[in-house]
Amino acid sequence: MRLAEKISIVTGGGSGIGRATCERFAKEGSSVIVAEINETAGQETAELITEAGGIASFSPLDVTSPYSIKTMVEHAVSIYGTIDVLVNNAAAFLMGSVEDATNDEWIHVMRTNVIGYANCIKEVTPIFRKSGGGSIINIASVSSFIAESEAVPYNTSKGAVMQLTRCTAMDLAADHIRVNGICPGDIETAGVAQLIIDRGLDLSKANKEMAEASLMNRLGKPEEIASVALFLASEDASFMTGSHLVVDGGQTID
Ligand SMILES: NC(=O)c1ccc[n+]([C@@H]2O[C@H](COP(=O)([O-])OP(=O)(O)OC[C@H]3O[C@@H](n4cnc5c(N)ncnc54)[C@H](O)[C@@H]3O)[C@@H](O)[C@H]2O)c1
Repeated sequence: MRLAEKISIVTGGGSGIGRATCERFAKEGSSVIVAEINETAGQETAELITEAGGIASFSPLDVTSPYSIKTMVEHAVSIYGTIDVLVNNAAAFLMGSVEDATNDEWIHVMRTNVIGYANCIKEVTPIFRKSGGGSIINIASVSSFIAESEAVPYNTSKGAVMQLTRCTAMDLAADHIRVNGICPGDIETAGVAQLIIDRGLDLSKANKEMAEASLMNRLGKPEEIASVALFLASEDASFMTGSHLVVDGGQTID
């Protein structure tokens, strides 16, 4: 029970890494706010947790709307009284070259992946300060620091997430608020599968190629990111802030 009596918000908790994180945190004793734009998926995560004996509530959230973030955080505080952990996870996957991306697409990816993360941090910070501290985990990516072809908007946004983590860690350390990031490699989720299909690629061929890019010759599982998020959220990581943990099966070792 590494998160006993803690209250955690996970954005994008309806699918993939977000859902696995909600479930793992609940198993470790945290009450979980599943904050999600897809109501059916968010409700389902909350139900899976409560059916398994954990504590969870769904809260509707669109991270591109500051009003929606404020409402979600107020909702969480009204139910549980405080918040201890924020996992910024909800993201838009927008690939393509710099010539492909439209102005509206750029605005959407930056509003979701960067400004959305920042606004969630902004809303929880006064609550963390009041309670004496907290832990923020930003889900970045190996795409935050490697170049990949036809991935300009997404990789640019994920690069910005790394600096958001470092700079907020610097500003919030005095308030005992730790801010860390996780850089996953290729993880098998519905979001990535949809992206591959939307790009007109063969899913099994793409999965095989991604698996071969790791030293372990396989894709990662959402649960393998959730366990690292758990570590960063817990007291086990009490001297860590402004750090990024790469969880990619060795993909970016060289
Ligand atoms: N899967 C991977 O290979 C991989 C690799 C590196 C980083 N990541 C990062 O991990 C995170 C989760 O990715 P995933 O693969 O689990 O994705 P996913 O698509 O399976 O899940 C993302 C969830 O976020 C929700 N969401 C999207 N936009 C939202 C919004 N505006 N407001 C609230 N919720 C919203 C979606 O409805 C969905 O439930 C993302 O930040 C992603 O960039 C994933």
